[in-house]
Amino acid sequence: MAEVVIVEHEEAAGRLVADAIVALIRSKPDAVLGLATGSTPLATYRSLASRIAEESIDVRGVRGFALDEYVGLPAGHPESYRAVITREVVEPLGLTPELVRVPNGDPASIEHAGADYEAALVAAGGVDLQILGIGRTGHIGFNEPGSSLASLTRVKTLTEPTRADNARFFDAPEDVPMHCITQGIGTILRARHLVLLAFGEAKAHAVAAAVEGPVTASQPGSAIQLHPHTTVVIDEAAASELENLAYYRHAWANKPNWQGI
Ligand code: GLP
Repeated sequence: MAEVVIVEHEEAAGRLVADAIVALIRSKPDAVLGLATGSTPLATYRSLASRIAEESIDVRGVRGFALDEYVGLPAGHPESYRAVITREVVEPLGLTPELVRVPNGDPASIEHAGADYEAALVAAGGVDLQILGIGRTGHIGFNEPGSSLASLTRVKTLTEPTRADNARFFDAPEDVPMHCITQGIGTILRARHLVLLAFGEAKAHAVAAAVEGPVTASQPGSAIQLHPHTTVVIDEAAASELENLAYYRHAWANKPNWQGI
């Protein structure tokens, strides 16, 4: 079962996850972080940036792999995930840009971009800690409902609800690309620790399906149940459709201090 931690607000979640990442980097200075885009992980990145600056943590050797990328956006487009990861993660944290990879969404090389990314992940020794958001449709990365639970990095077609959700980042809804390249669910499950974050009522259904629903490709988030070390960090609103809430609170309140998340 995933560990479910219910926090008061996003900032508290950010502090908790940043703590785990700082501990990881201290024990492994070339740690491999799995990076998510979207609004959900921003508090974690902010908290991590403050810790790194205040405690002068050396992150020059830290490596990163983004989960996904749009296909076909012009290089340097501000909403490409390459640009978002640079702006929200690499620069504020002071990571070494060459050590942070994003799947290549250039149509010219798209046919082998998935295999190339998989090879790079394997060569890096895999992801130590993977940050995940979850979409309204239950997607993780850009693995929309129906994605194989064994899938690897490949091109996918976005659903219309996901395109509509992401339209807020673009000038017009039709500017949201139709295709993406995303780590597969099988890829994500190879990371050594999954940390899934979700905030707000709009995510409550997807969270309940991921944590307590049947494991099914129809709810890609439910794949977390197959992983031996998953931490779900959510606020009260995102937790509102969970049935075993009392137990999650009880387990967290009684957790031995030495364990961390
Ligand atoms: C996006 C990303 C996902 C993200 C999800 C939720 O489309 N591809 O990696 O987790 O949708 O986004 P947000 O955090 O903005 O709600």
